Amino acid sequence: MDALITLLPGDGIGPEVTAAGRKTLEAVEARYGHKFTYSEQLAGGAAIDAVGDPLPDETVASCLESDAVVLGAVGGPKWSDPSASVRPEQGLLKLRSVLGVYANLRPVSVMPELMAASPLRADLLEGVDMIVVRELTGGIYFGEKHRDETSASDLCVYKVEEIERIVRIAANLARGRRSKVTSVDKANVLETSRLWRETTDRLMTDEFAGIEVETLLVDAAAMHLLSRPADFDVIVTENMFGDILTDEASMLAGSMGMLPSASLGDGRRGLYEPIHGSAPDIAGKGIANPAAMIASIAMLLRHSLDLADEANDVESAIEKVIRAGGRTADIAAGDDAVMSTDEFASAVLAHLK
Ligand code: IPM
Ligand code: MG
Repeated sequence: MDALITLLPGDGIGPEVTAAGRKTLEAVEARYGHKFTYSEQLAGGAAIDAVGDPLPDETVASCLESDAVVLGAVGGPKWSDPSASVRPEQGLLKLRSVLGVYANLRPVSVMPELMAASPLRADLLEGVDMIVVRELTGGIYFGEKHRDETSASDLCVYKVEEIERIVRIAANLARGRRSKVTSVDKANVLETSRLWRETTDRLMTDEFAGIEVETLLVDAAAMHLLSRPADFDVIVTENMFGDILTDEASMLAGSMGMLPSASLGDGRRGLYEPIHGSAPDIAGKGIANPAAMIASIAMLLRHSLDLADEANDVESAIEKVIRAGGRTADIAAGDDAVMSTDEFASAVLAHLK
C-alpha cells in the first residue's frame, strides 16, 4: 500500500521519539512491501522559533493531504512565559481542530513485567485493560477566553451532537471489548456535564442496549482509577477530564513513556501522538522511552491504513523487548540494564526484520 505521512517532531524529546517512529514505519515498509512517503514539518515551539507561528500554513497543508499525521511533543520552558501571546500548545490544539479529530483514544494496559515500575500494588494492577476515549475538539479547551487586569475566564461549551458522536465511538469500542462504558462528568456542578449525562443515558438506552453503562463524577473517577483500575473497560469523558485522568492512568502502566494515542474524526485520517509531553528535563540526552511513539505507530497502521497484522506485529515486538528485559530509564528498576532511546527502538525493530 502507498501512504503519505506527515511527521511533526516538535519540541523537547519529540524529535528523538519521532525518529524512532519513522524507523518503525520504514521497517514495516521493508517487511511488508508498502511504500510510505514522509513529509517532515514544523510544529510547536520549533515552528515559533523558525517562523513565528506554532502551526504554519505549510504544516497544515501537508497534514490535510496526508493519510496520517505523527506528532512527537510540543512545548517547553523556553515558550512558557505566561505573558507570551503565541504558545506551542496553540499549534497542537489548532491541528486537532483543523483535522477534525474529535475522538482521542488512549489505551492503558499493564504488562506483568512492568508492574514493579508502577507506584500501585501489583494485586491492584492485575487485569488492567482499559481505553479512555477523550473528547478532543470541544469543551473548555476551545471555548471563548477572556482576560483583563483583574479577571480571566475560559468558557466550556458542549453541543448534543458533539457528545453523541464521542459516546457512539466509545460504545462501539466497548462492543468489541468487555461491553462496559464508564462516562465521567461533573454533573453535580456543571451544566455541560448535566447535558453530557442526559445525552449519554439517552443514546446508550436507544442505541446500545446491550452495553453496561456506569456514570462517575470525575473526582470519584480519579479515586476509582487507583482503587479498582481493573474494573474499567471503556471510559468516555470530556476534553479536560480526559487530559487529567489519562496522566493519572499512565501510572498504572508504569510510565507515561508507555502510552500511545490515536485521534480520529469521521474519515480514516488520524493524528498519532504519545500521551507524554516534551520532557525538557531529559531532552537531547537520547534516553527517552520510544515505546509510546512506537505503539502510536501501531495505532496509525491499524486505524488510518487498515493494516491490522502490521499493527499487531509492532505491538508484539514492543512486548517481546520488554519481556526480554529491555528497559529505558523510566521503566527500569533495581539493577536493570538501562537502554537508550535508539537501543530500545533497535531492539523492537529487530523483531520486525
Ligand atoms: C495532551 C497534552 C496536551 C493537552 C497539551 C500539550 C496541550 O497534555 O495531549 O494530553 O492538554 O491536550
Ligand atoms: Mg495531557
